Amino acid sequence: MKIAIAGAGYVGLTTAACLCELGHAVSLVEIDQTRIDALQSGICPIYEPGLPELLDKHLDTSLKITADLSQALEGADILFACVGTPPMATGAPDLSGLRRLLGDLRALRPLSADGRPVVVLKSTVPPGTNRWASKRLGGVLPVVSNPEFLREGTAVYDFFHPDRVIIGSEDRAAGELVASLYRDVEAPLVLTGWEQAELAKYATNAFLALKLSFVNELAALCDGIGTDVQDVLTALGLDKRIGPHFLSPGPGYGGSCLPKDLKALMWKARRIGVTLDTMRSAEKANVRQRERLLQKVLNGVDDIWGKTIAVWGLSFKAGTDDVRSAASLELIPKLLALGARVQAHDPEALIAFARVCPPERWPGLVLCGDPWRALHGAHALLILTEWPAYKEAPIEQIRQHLSGNLIVDGRNLLNPERARATGLMYRGVGRK
Ligand code: UDX
Repeated sequence: MKIAIAGAGYVGLTTAACLCELGHAVSLVEIDQTRIDALQSGICPIYEPGLPELLDKHLDTSLKITADLSQALEGADILFACVGTPPMATGAPDLSGLRRLLGDLRALRPLSADGRPVVVLKSTVPPGTNRWASKRLGGVLPVVSNPEFLREGTAVYDFFHPDRVIIGSEDRAAGELVASLYRDVEAPLVLTGWEQAELAKYATNAFLALKLSFVNELAALCDGIGTDVQDVLTALGLDKRIGPHFLSPGPGYGGSCLPKDLKALMWKARRIGVTLDTMRSAEKANVRQRERLLQKVLNGVDDIWGKTIAVWGLSFKAGTDDVRSAASLELIPKLLALGARVQAHDPEALIAFARVCPPERWPGLVLCGDPWRALHGAHALLILTEWPAYKEAPIEQIRQHLSGNLIVDGRNLLNPERARATGLMYRGVGRK
């Protein structure tokens, strides 16, 4: 099929490349000329394993990049809206990008009755948005909800191995047309209404946030009791109703989606007078988890003023260069404000972090291209991201580089006994 995609961000770019891989012809529309230039010169603007190879394979054959929506829509059977819906101060998602796209669509195409293109909202939008979009299009073009569940760092894999494909529509033929795109993808298909599909997306991310906040509080309980959380989590995960995934304690969830979607769901609930106590608690618990990790550092050094803290891990999780809502963006400024020096490393996210916290504006912050340089002469090591290089770091070498003896392992990557055997003071997240 011929497909137009509006928005070349994490979702639009991955969806475009993967639909080409499934044999479709895609025109990817982007308003940011620098991003178009990068893509057309073969540069993948985001760090996403497997995506550059797919772009190289399909660019200028089945994948076209353009700034011109009308050109992209010529002969298109489907238009995917993959525009960003970032949170506003109230928690409401900013739908201005989607509003602009629908306005352009109306202006470009006299809304003829041929029912093409089917407009698919893949962007994460509050319940009711597909219905609103259908009205803005005068009800002439079918609108279908097809939320994505792509995780950063594994987005290409996730596209071809989804746990399910959700199609929300009020027009059966349009829903089936969109479902046919995934014909070669083995996954359960959930054909439902607009609001159910929109809510299923928010519900998934909100539940994941809730699960993580529970896990992090369980780890805090283990710290307080003086026992180890690992076996408790193993036992928990063996319960079929809970499952073993998404049970790793950490510095609190980050990323561009879980925090945003939780806020959007709570905003929607407030508007309709529904109180979501569990969602609010999940968000509060996440804030507290970062405070707990900071306290582990402060409690482990006599006086943080003038001390050097090494930080391994700036991205919000391993496998991505994305720092949105990352623990590093909260904890490093706090350490600097308390008078510490920070030597930070990340294998992929140094540039993204420097964009938000430029060292020239943060005296005392040094960004290091080598993890051992970051460790050199530091009084303590704080691990925030679960990069394999950190997990595999020889504990003896860590001991030699540190001038102090504290490790705060925010991802439980290292072995506590082995760390202590070298004379290090090891603090994990719920580790004994
Ligand atoms: C998430 C959803 O998983 C995905 O389905 C949706 O489409 C987009 O949002 P992503 O934000 O890429 O994906 O990250 P995810 O892998 O879900 O992790 C979210 C946060 O939870 C990260 O900060 C991660 O470090 C943290 N996390 C995850 C843990 O702390 N422990 C875990 O066991 C898993």
